[in-house]
Amino acid sequence: MVPSFLTLLVALCALSRLATALLPITIDGNMFVDSTGNPFVIVGVDYQPGGSSGYSNSASSDVLSDEEVCLRDAYLLQKLGVNTIRTYTVSPWLNHDACMSILNAVGIYLILDVNSPLGGESIQRDDPASSYNEGYLKRVFSIVDAFKGYPNLLGFFAGNEVINDATSASVSPPYIRAVQRDIKNYIALHANRTIPVGYSAADVNPLSEAGWEYFQCDSDEQSLQVSRSDFYGLNSYQWCSGRDTFQTSGYGGLETTFANSSIPLFFSEFGCNLIQPRTFTEINGGVYIESMLHVFDGGLVYEYSEEDNNYGLVKVASDGSVTMKQDYVNLQAAYANMTYNSFMSKSFIDVGGSSTCNATYIESIDAGFNASFSLPPCPAQDMLNSGSGNNNIGKWIPLNSTQTTYKIYDANSQEITDTEITVVSDQTQPEGQSMTVSVFPSETSPATSAMAFSNTSATTTSSASTRATSSSAATAALVGAANPFLLAVAGLLGITLVL
Ligand SMILES: *[C@@H]1O[C@H](CO)[C@@H](O)[C@H](O)[C@H]1NC(C)=O
Ligand SMILES: *[C@@H]1O[C@H](CO)[C@@H](O)[C@H](O)[C@H]1NC(C)=O
Ligand SMILES: *[C@@H]1O[C@H](CO)[C@@H](O)[C@H](O)[C@H]1NC(C)=O
Ligand SMILES: *[C@@H]1O[C@H](CO)[C@@H](O)[C@H](O)[C@H]1NC(C)=O
Ligand SMILES: *[C@@H]1O[C@H](CO)[C@@H](O)[C@H](O)[C@H]1NC(C)=O
Ligand SMILES: *[C@@H]1O[C@H](CO)[C@@H](O)[C@H](O)[C@H]1NC(C)=O
Ligand SMILES: *[C@@H]1O[C@H](CO)[C@@H](O)[C@H](O)[C@H]1NC(C)=O
Repeated sequence: MVPSFLTLLVALCALSRLATALLPITIDGNMFVDSTGNPFVIVGVDYQPGGSSGYSNSASSDVLSDEEVCLRDAYLLQKLGVNTIRTYTVSPWLNHDACMSILNAVGIYLILDVNSPLGGESIQRDDPASSYNEGYLKRVFSIVDAFKGYPNLLGFFAGNEVINDATSASVSPPYIRAVQRDIKNYIALHANRTIPVGYSAADVNPLSEAGWEYFQCDSDEQSLQVSRSDFYGLNSYQWCSGRDTFQTSGYGGLETTFANSSIPLFFSEFGCNLIQPRTFTEINGGVYIESMLHVFDGGLVYEYSEEDNNYGLVKVASDGSVTMKQDYVNLQAAYANMTYNSFMSKSFIDVGGSSTCNATYIESIDAGFNASFSLPPCPAQDMLNSGSGNNNIGKWIPLNSTQTTYKIYDANSQEITDTEITVVSDQTQPEGQSMTVSVFPSETSPATSAMAFSNTSATTTSSASTRATSSSAATAALVGAANPFLLAVAGLLGITLVL
């Protein structure tokens, strides 16, 4: 009654084809694109349980370091229907391998802010010169090192709402471009791939428009090219569901103002909570309609967890259990109604928008905006060249579990009994890096660690494709494992595995 070796091989091959790892997202003109060159639309939420004040430098955990918490939230995020989260603050010293691997398993990318609210760990908006120093860049470069090894890292935010009033606009823009330059130079020297770097802007007009022109513009001068934003996020609360329509929300103005961008734009925060619970009518009436997707490549709802400002989709209790708010249910229903897959195509990619840096033009949008392109020099050129010294370089690892131990309750406070994540991506490192496929042994499995099929030379058309070697250890583990994922694969193939 043991399945034939051939059956297992068929199942294995199917497994590696079905569960391809997430491949890095890149940029083509005004859109993020996936590995096939098709537009990647951000369907996401902002994720910082505990809020920004929940972070301390000496803490033994951050929001992406606890495997159990990440399994719990991965279940909820996957059921919600997102493909991206944004996280504002993490420690460069903690291990994020389990959480990043879990996010990959459920098909989720991360956009990460490099800064923190602690002193010396961000650019001071009104006095940027005092904060742009070697200590600051050590944190920033250390964050890059800690996350550069995860293929599901979508990008870094160099700054969030640094420019938010006349004073900050008069001094800080050249510093933000300088930080972007430093991060991009650091990535070029110390990472194996290009990782997009951008800025997240407050929706304060006309500063947000001037900032967009200032950060996206290009030049023949190499030092200015490299300081350019790869993408631009807008934190916009203009549409309050329950009150607004496309016409009353100001989205029409955004669509016109930001047309013809040379870089991807998206809502790095949205979801006004004036009327609660939120019904998220902006999902299918605004953010994901065809005309808007020509301008904004999706967005991130603020925010996953309930904090003091009442923007949560779920409530996290002190015992670690989570209860959905009605906002979660409403957003899930709105996501389920999205139709962009029916019309999204490569025709949305526009590569013609590149504009030459012109301070006069930018100052004509907002006279108080400092559009100087004479950037401060990097205060830590030696460290930029030699590395931050952070040896905590993340990588994907096999999952030990697909099941959180925390309790999860629906919006009616009924406990959800099946809270297992559905694995949609394996942990195969893309091309040139170690290739490991994990098969998630169940509790009953004799295998203590996931199987690894190594054949680094087997890179075919898809960089994620893997070839199973006929390792007898692997076969033995499979025979012994009543693996739900494998059973699902076999089920799809119409194969009955008798274990
Ligand atoms: C980059 O590639 C090199 C050589 O293939 C490898 O040794 C290194 O671990 C990779 N670094 C990351 C961060 O993946
Ligand atoms: C623009 O910003 C730079 C850097 O902060 C500063 O040196 C310069 O004086 C500012 N220009 C104006 C006109 O304020
Ligand atoms: C965007 O480009 C189109 C086509 O070139 C042009 O008609 C339109 O005026 C442009 N819009 C803006 C705001 O520049
Ligand atoms: C989803 O679409 C259906 C059919 O158009 C509609 O009846 C329903 O109200 C929509 N729900 C949401 C949450 O948008
Ligand atoms: C810069 O912008 C100003 C104002 O829009 C315009 O008059 C000028 O021609 C532009 N300069 C260049 C070199 O395009
Ligand atoms: C699996 O367990 C080992 C040993 O406890 C741990 O080092 C590793 O980080 C765990 N992996 C994941 C993905 O949680
Ligand atoms: C690894 O892949 C190469 C290229 O496809 C192939 O020639 C070789 O036989 C494979 N090795 C194993 C152990 O499967």
